[in-house]
Amino acid sequence: MRHAVVMAGGSGTRLWPLSRAARPKQLLDVIQDPSDGTGGAHSLLAEAFTRLEAVLPAERIWVCTAARYGAQVQAALPRLRPDRLVLEPVARDTANAVGLAAALVAEADPEAELAVVSADHVIRPVERFAAALTTAFDALAARPRALVTLGIRPTAPATGFGYVRRGAPTEVPGVAEAAAFKEKPDSATAESYLASGEYLWNSGMFVWRARTVLDALADHLPATAQGLDRVVAAPAGPERDAVLVEVFPTLPKTSVDYAVLEPAATEPGRVLVADLDVDWLDVGSWPALAQTLATADGNAVGGLAVTLDSAGNIVFSDDPEHLVALVGVRDSVVVATADVTMVCPVSDAERVKQLLAAVEERH
Ligand code: GDD
Ligand code: MG
Repeated sequence: MRHAVVMAGGSGTRLWPLSRAARPKQLLDVIQDPSDGTGGAHSLLAEAFTRLEAVLPAERIWVCTAARYGAQVQAALPRLRPDRLVLEPVARDTANAVGLAAALVAEADPEAELAVVSADHVIRPVERFAAALTTAFDALAARPRALVTLGIRPTAPATGFGYVRRGAPTEVPGVAEAAAFKEKPDSATAESYLASGEYLWNSGMFVWRARTVLDALADHLPATAQGLDRVVAAPAGPERDAVLVEVFPTLPKTSVDYAVLEPAATEPGRVLVADLDVDWLDVGSWPALAQTLATADGNAVGGLAVTLDSAGNIVFSDDPEHLVALVGVRDSVVVATADVTMVCPVSDAERVKQLLAAVEERH
């Protein structure tokens, strides 16, 4: 049967100080003006779950996150079945998270076809996402051993994404073989990919059989495969939890893109790419989040703000009583939270991650 798992264990450091270790971006109510009819402010995670419900019943939607976010995730998702919540003792990046989720899904349903989706995307319209996901599942009928990624037409030479080169078409319309996969290229490489017109962005969403991705991990990341075998060999309950706590922190920290997709794409026909033709935003940084905010006088504004002769700014206050006021300010990010104020040029927004590291070192 078809299942899906939302990867929801990232920490969202480039959205600091809004996103915090204790409350990462996917759990914040950042979607303030939803155009998909789902109602009031809600989180990216809630949106990811609702989006999957267009394709699957809630009982086959799983969420994988770090144990410390478990209670917040369950509270944000009233329709998530408690036995579908997969908790990692510590975050070891997506190769291990995907592996753990796939092992537990395969235990529940050995023939499971599994979609893996991110928790940090805004996608419109939902209907086109649902159609693309269904097409990707359909591709598995003809090629059960395939690793399918959903690909987006790139609009910029972004270096924060994976790139997939479209190869020969398959028997399923809208699905091609992937001729190559490159995770987070440098900017010259990204420029050349964009100019070639042959590459799509990896959306970070995949479809495969749970068994297939476990086999691929056995091939390309054997330490993870062996560790996960030990985990699922233990009976579910306290015994398994104890093995997980012992084994998981020792697994190699890497993402599924580097560990599985890059090497697998060198095998002809192993990786497929399904077109995902939607408005898509990875809400990874302040300029990306700004695209979900209201615009006022040439500034992107979230929360209480007054601007005078100021433009190109991203202004955010997370406290309804805390006013941010600007005069004569250009192209800056100004974020106020109860205990931290962060200011930087928009052009340095990617460096917020570095800034946070410096803060953690000195503070
Ligand atoms: N459970 C769990 N555990 N989830 C995690 C972990 C972890 O250790 N680390 C990250 N995640 C979740 C994040 O919350 C997010 O929903 C998703 O996995 C992807 O992680 P990111 O850290 O946001 O990855 P990225 O944006 O740098 O890169 C990925 O997504 C891009 C598109 O958004 C890659 O797949 C790229 O190739 C892709 O282009
Ligand atoms: Mg991301």
